Amino acid sequence: MAAEPIIDVQHLEHTYMKGTPFVHQALTGVSITVYSGECVAIIGHTGSGKSTLVQHFNGLILPQKGKVIVDGADLSDKKTDMKGLRQKVGLVFQDPESQIFESLVGDEIAYGPFKMGWPIKDVRDAVKGAMEMAGLPFDAMKDRPTAALSGGQKRKVALAGVLALKPKILVLDEPTAGLDPRSGMELLGRLKTLNEQEHLTIVFISHHLEEVAYLADRIYVLDHGKNIGEGSPATLFSNKKMLEKYRIGTPETVDILYRLQDAGFSVNVAHYGIAEVASQICSILEHGPRRDRYDTV
Ligand SMILES: Nc1ncnc2c1ncn2[C@@H]1O[C@H](COP(=O)(O)OP(=O)(O)O)[C@@H](O)[C@H]1O
Ligand SMILES: [Mg+2]
Repeated sequence: MAAEPIIDVQHLEHTYMKGTPFVHQALTGVSITVYSGECVAIIGHTGSGKSTLVQHFNGLILPQKGKVIVDGADLSDKKTDMKGLRQKVGLVFQDPESQIFESLVGDEIAYGPFKMGWPIKDVRDAVKGAMEMAGLPFDAMKDRPTAALSGGQKRKVALAGVLALKPKILVLDEPTAGLDPRSGMELLGRLKTLNEQEHLTIVFISHHLEEVAYLADRIYVLDHGKNIGEGSPATLFSNKKMLEKYRIGTPETVDILYRLQDAGFSVNVAHYGIAEVASQICSILEHGPRRDRYDTV
């Protein structure tokens, strides 16, 4: 991991509908740091402020109180170039329909690059590259009407539209919500490639702890508008006290390991990969509960 913070949020607060009877403080003091090249997951119950937080990253919401620094730019500074920021930070909303305006797939994906004033050839190359990265074959899909796409295809179009701008940071709000398991897995594989091979910094919100375990280098846990936990998936999933206190779900494999632990077997919860769990179970079957092996964990 590079040691350069690309997103730095300090003591961020946000109140919706100030001065009305519907006033609601969605962020009560969030501090998070994302380093260049990382893949960071943000988890937490519905209403904990996840979407509000990530909408600050590309300036859709400006800081009311606290600091948001993105790639060196202070978003409280009126001189910050917001157009540049939107290009640098691609945000894919939870609801892909809300992001699609054009009637043809190709036009939709080209919209951002056109608005940036790129030469036509660069726009075409960017659209083609982004479509391939998002899993949309260029020739077969570019002239398809957006209205006739399935939910999963719309999500791919929204992702391609964001990737076409060649962002440095990709932010996704519940990227697999509403996708069938296969499309979800394909998308996760693509995101992993973008992060590992293209070195794109990724921040994503998710309720699926399996996908968090698969993708994230680090996790932030939000509760009532502030961050209450941070760590690698292995560290966080091994912290039973915290999981119970905040009722954070865990991947099924972690669940199985905790159940084995509760039943008196000595297992290492930090080794929750499917192959690792299988080998821990085999070892119990073969040798019985060897308490000495994991007593240090
Ligand atoms: N536009 C809005 N106006 C008023 N309240 C909002 C608005 N958006 C979100 N909220 C409220 O702020 C809180 C945090 O919302 P959100 O950031 O969407 O949480 P999450 O993404 O974790 O579910 C919730 O209580 C939600 O109802
Ligand atoms: Mg949300």
